[in-house]
Amino acid sequence: MAVTTPTDGRMTKTTIAFIGAGNMARSLIGGLLEEGDRYRVSAADPDAGQRARAAEAFQIPLGADNRQAVGGADVVVLAVKPHVVKQVCVDLRAPIATRRPLVVSIAAGVRETDISRWLEHAPAVVRCMPNTPALVRSGASALYANQHVTAAQRDCAESLMRAVGTIVWVEDESALDAVTALSGSGPAYFFAMMEAMEAAAIGLGLSADQARLLTLETALGAAKMALEAGEAPAQLRANVTSEGGTTQAALRVFAEHEFTALVARAMTAARDRAREIGTQLGADS
Ligand SMILES: NC(=O)c1ccc[n+]([C@@H]2O[C@H](COP(=O)([O-])OP(=O)(O)OC[C@H]3O[C@@H](n4cnc5c(N)ncnc54)[C@H](OP(=O)(O)O)[C@@H]3O)[C@@H](O)[C@H]2O)c1
Repeated sequence: MAVTTPTDGRMTKTTIAFIGAGNMARSLIGGLLEEGDRYRVSAADPDAGQRARAAEAFQIPLGADNRQAVGGADVVVLAVKPHVVKQVCVDLRAPIATRRPLVVSIAAGVRETDISRWLEHAPAVVRCMPNTPALVRSGASALYANQHVTAAQRDCAESLMRAVGTIVWVEDESALDAVTALSGSGPAYFFAMMEAMEAAAIGLGLSADQARLLTLETALGAAKMALEAGEAPAQLRANVTSEGGTTQAALRVFAEHEFTALVARAMTAARDRAREIGTQLGADS
């Protein structure tokens, strides 16, 4: 598993097969290939257009046959839409039982317990919850490994997802529902905030271009400061809030409308919906 050293001293590469060559797969493949020749990567997708897009970007073997792709793989990445995962697993049951690769699923909402049940034969499964910024290599993913995953396989799954951003491990799969409410849906919360700030700025007399640029740069700058400053967001907020100043005037309006409680209610709604969707996706009928 992962990079091993045979007795003659040569390094063997980890072979990774992507099932589905869509947006997320292409982003992960791009990240992996940037790491040099550590990996031998292939992908299967029934959609000729998707294969052509992948072929334009990478020189890797691309086919339409999932079973063939799994044939020599150490790692199989399920990168299809969630509603397709069950059919793909059932179809790959025999080759995965024979080859016993690590199965990494990036499909939102599909539970490890369901993937293992569909694959049968106690597979090693890592379930990931990536988010959309992974498409620009600034993702934040959480990973959960079942009990069949070895330490080397955990390292491999971690390297795969690190290729497109930051990762955290969770020890309990149900935590992925909270992760979905935070980093999974989170980009949309920030987009909504940007949208609202832009609209308000235009209302206050700035041009659309000025409002857009200043909003985006402010969001980027705030995130960069929060990552690099070594202080909690609460402290950073306090640092820029002078008594009687403009920031305090704005934050007082947020507080009057119970901003913190509103965010908690919104994220609880997202977590509850993630649970419902997980249950629906795992239903066998
Ligand atoms: N994009 C994101 O930001 C994001 C974030 C978090 C999680 N994810 C997860 O990542 C997974 C992939 O998302 P995506 O955005 O990359 O989707 P996508 O662009 O639609 O890619 C999925 C690909 O799988 C192909 N496919 C369909 N059935 C297949 C089969 N039986 N065997 C092999 N390939 C098959 C699809 O072909 P067709 O086009 O012909 O259907 C498509 O090319 C999803 O499960 C999603 O939940 C994505």
